Amino acid sequence: MFTAPRSDEIFTEQRLTPRRFQPDPAFREDVLNGLAQAGKAIPARWFYDMRGSQLFEAITQVPEYYPTRTETALLHGHAAAVAERLGADATVVEFGSGSSIKTRILLKALPRATYVPIDICGEFLDEACLALQGLFPALRIVPVEADFMNPVSLPLRREGRAMLGFFPGSTIGNLTPFAAVDLLRSMRETLGEQAHLLIGIDRVKDPARLVSAYDDAGGVTALFNLNLLQRINRELGGTIPVGEFRHVARWNEDASRIEMHLQARRAIRFEVAGQAFHMESGETIHTENCHKYRPGEIRLLLAASGWGEVEHWSDAGGDFSLVLAQGGGD
Ligand code: AVI
Repeated sequence: MFTAPRSDEIFTEQRLTPRRFQPDPAFREDVLNGLAQAGKAIPARWFYDMRGSQLFEAITQVPEYYPTRTETALLHGHAAAVAERLGADATVVEFGSGSSIKTRILLKALPRATYVPIDICGEFLDEACLALQGLFPALRIVPVEADFMNPVSLPLRREGRAMLGFFPGSTIGNLTPFAAVDLLRSMRETLGEQAHLLIGIDRVKDPARLVSAYDDAGGVTALFNLNLLQRINRELGGTIPVGEFRHVARWNEDASRIEMHLQARRAIRFEVAGQAFHMESGETIHTENCHKYRPGEIRLLLAASGWGEVEHWSDAGGDFSLVLAQGGGD
C-alpha cells in the first residue's frame, strides 16, 4: 500500500537536495559579446542580482542621490491631483514595480484602485504584493510577471475605469532617447487609448552635482558598479581581479548623460566562461547611461511617443520632473 510521506520527510529531502543555480543564458551572451567588442560594454540590467538590488536601495538613501527623495516629495504633493483627474477607482499599472514603495503614496490617494504591478522577477513581485496587501487589505492586486520593455497583455477588463501607467525613478533615463521613445510607445499599447501616464524624469543640472550623485563619498555606487564583476565571477566562472578596477562616473555633455564605467587600474588578463579577455591599463567597461532631460526635451520625448503633457510638476530647485501625460488615439 502506498503511504504518503510525512511532511517532515518531504522537508528533509528538500533540504538535502539544494536547488542547482542556473546562470541566465542571456547574461552569459551579453557579457561575452560586451567584453569582446572594441568599446567594452555590458547592459545595466545585469546590475540587479540580489546584492545589486540591495545596493541600489542603499544608493537611494545616500545624501548625494537626490532623485528618490525629490520624487517622493513630489508624489506626496501631487497624488491628490492625480486622483482627482483619474477617479478613485482607477487602475494603476506600474512598469518595473520592484518593491512598490513609491506606489504606496499613489495608492493612498486612490482608495478603490486596482493595482497591476509588472515585473520581470516573479519572486520579488510576490514578496512586494504580500507586503502591499498587508498595508492595503482592500486593494485588488493583479500581478503580472513580464518584461515591460515589450507590450504586455493585461489580464483584466477595463470596465470603464481610467488607466494610469506609473513609471517613477527616472528609469526612462537608463535608455537612449530612441529606445525611450520605443518604450513609451509600447506603454501606450499596453495601457490603451486615452490612458494616462505618471512618469518621473531627472533633469539636466550642474555636472558636478550629477557626478557626485553617481559617485557618492561613501562609495555605495562604486560597490554597486563593481558588484557586476563579482556577479560575472560567481555566475559565469569568471577570474576577473575585481580589486584592479575602479568605479568611474562621468558627465557626457554631448549625449546629456552620466556614464558609469569600470576602469582597469593596470593591464589585465582574465577569463569568463572559459574565454580569455585582455584589457589595457585605463581601458573601461561601460556599464550604464543615465540620460538627463530639460523640460522642453521631456515634452518632445513624450510627444514623439504619442503622449501629451497634462501636468508637469517639479521641485523648487528644478532638479526633477513628475509628469502626468495622456495618450491620444492614433
Ligand atoms: C535605476 N536608475 C533610474 C538609476 C539611475 O539613477 O539611473 C540607477 C543608478 N545607477 C547608479 N545610481 C543609480
